[in-house]
Amino acid sequence: MNARLQELDEIEASIWSELEQCVAVRPRPESGETDADQPHEWRVAVLATVDDGQADARSLVLREVDAAERRLIFYTDARSPKVRQIEQSPQGTLIFYSRKLGQQLRMQVRLNVETTGLAVSSRWAKLQTSAGARDYLSVAAPGRPLDAPLSDLGARGHFAMIEAMAETVDWLDLHPDGHRRAVMGANGSRWVQP
Ligand SMILES: Cc1cc2nc3c(=O)[nH]c(=O)nc-3n(C[C@H](O)[C@H](O)[C@H](O)COP(=O)(O)O)c2cc1C
Repeated sequence: MNARLQELDEIEASIWSELEQCVAVRPRPESGETDADQPHEWRVAVLATVDDGQADARSLVLREVDAAERRLIFYTDARSPKVRQIEQSPQGTLIFYSRKLGQQLRMQVRLNVETTGLAVSSRWAKLQTSAGARDYLSVAAPGRPLDAPLSDLGARGHFAMIEAMAETVDWLDLHPDGHRRAVMGANGSRWVQP
């Protein structure tokens, strides 16, 4: 997104194109990394959830993007507290910030966790032979005190996927020529005061 786009529909398309670039598989640089080889800064998002009336938030790696469906996919451990929070309260907010782009996305999302079924098993089949599989194979659940006994825990994959359907996207563009902000949702898009 180099030139400053002026039309809201172009800006919205450009946002989703940037998100798709985050998850695109890129060839390893043959020699000497350049700036362009750095991971896209929107690749790591902050997901805020509601925990019994209390706000909670954490960093997550963006894994898949379906721009047409306005759908984002994250991977997690099915036993992690965020999974219980989402099951109790599916509203969430995602924050993406890129210093390079000078842009923040604040996205209101509806969340859903999948722990079984074809969508989960097909992704796990690909993941389980990779180094990343160990994140979902620990006998202890995330957040469990390390000094607690392990006797009642089984060792199996606990891979789960979090689906986030974007409802509104609040786009903030920080720029020396003037900041800009727009809110885009099912009822259309509009410019708002930054
Ligand atoms: C850069 C970064 C990327 C992370 N990516 C993930 C991820 O993709 N999935 C995940 O479950 N946790 C990820 N984590 C760990 C989470 O931020 C969090 O600590 C963990 O999932 C427990 O969260 P919870 O207690 O809210 O369930 C990441 C942390 C960092 C710092």
